[in-house]
Amino acid sequence: MFRDGLLKGKRILVTGGGTGLGKEMAEDYLRLGAEVYICGRRKNVLDDTARELMDKHGGSVKTHSVDIRVAAAVDEMIAEIWADGGPLTGLVNNAAGNFISPTKDLSPRGFDAIAGIVFHGSFYVTLACGKRWIEDKVPASVISILTTWVWNGSPFTVPSAMSKAGLNIMTKSLAAEWGEYGIRLNAIAPGPFPTKGAWERLSPGESVEGDTSREGIPMGRVGRMDELKNLATFLMADGCEYLTGQTIAIDGAMHLASGGNFSRLSKLSEAEWAGMREMIRSANEKDKAQRSI
Ligand code: HXC
Repeated sequence: MFRDGLLKGKRILVTGGGTGLGKEMAEDYLRLGAEVYICGRRKNVLDDTARELMDKHGGSVKTHSVDIRVAAAVDEMIAEIWADGGPLTGLVNNAAGNFISPTKDLSPRGFDAIAGIVFHGSFYVTLACGKRWIEDKVPASVISILTTWVWNGSPFTVPSAMSKAGLNIMTKSLAAEWGEYGIRLNAIAPGPFPTKGAWERLSPGESVEGDTSREGIPMGRVGRMDELKNLATFLMADGCEYLTGQTIAIDGAMHLASGGNFSRLSKLSEAEWAGMREMIRSANEKDKAQRSI
């Protein structure tokens, strides 16, 4: 869809870029000539991804292990990136945390775990970049990965829905506040694009490859990664600078037809929820064992 070298001269940070959607977007940015930075909590996962992508496409992918819930650590990482090769020109707020749970069963720490990553963390990264862009007079593009629930909410993923709705408003607010500096902010609201991290926590027990739940999606299929990557590249490339403050759904019209959220889970029994919780906990434990911070 895009010409080679489209993103030459761009320097882009993708949070949560070691896996899932983040890795996919990082790969396309690299392939199209950008210098790429990825961050996350698992250094070994980030380093494996960086090596894999550079082996495939050449170029430069640098890794930073950081928990974006820690504002000082975020600022330190952004300072290091600026010192490494000059200002970033793009940021993708992709890192997220989520799991399905009846809201009545959430502890305050459970809420904070998700809000800390999605709501606070994405703001910390946006702020650390934004203040430097303004100071350096560098135009830039920010993309936040949201969900269509920012418009209609989602039962059983309330901390995520609340946090992503906050980022939706951050996108609009800062588009207006930072437009004069040439900084634009847009967001992508993907429908179902199966990835391991999301599926383990949102559809436990269903394999990413084997998932056949197409019900409620007018186009009759889940998203193709290339479709998401093309949108993420379009929003990052030069040529649409007047486009800002927008959240674009890419979901085969799922939210328009059937809500696109987890309301169907109201059918689950307490015993089924207990089983789900166990599966999610075991996925969390496996990920945690790999964390370097
Ligand atoms: C109830 C749970 C729970 C569950 C965790 N908790 N899992 N509560 N049901 N299934 C509670 C814990 O009991 C604890 O509270 C609190 O949450 C913190 O748990 P920790 O495991 O200590 O948290 P932490 O190590 O910080 O991990 C954060 C996390 C984890 C969000 C819980 O899942 C994570 O790191 N996720 C990152 C990857 C991820 O989620 N990817 C999917 C994103 S999908 P107590 O009170 O017991 O101490 C996504 C899709 C959006 O965002 C849209 C798709 C369409």
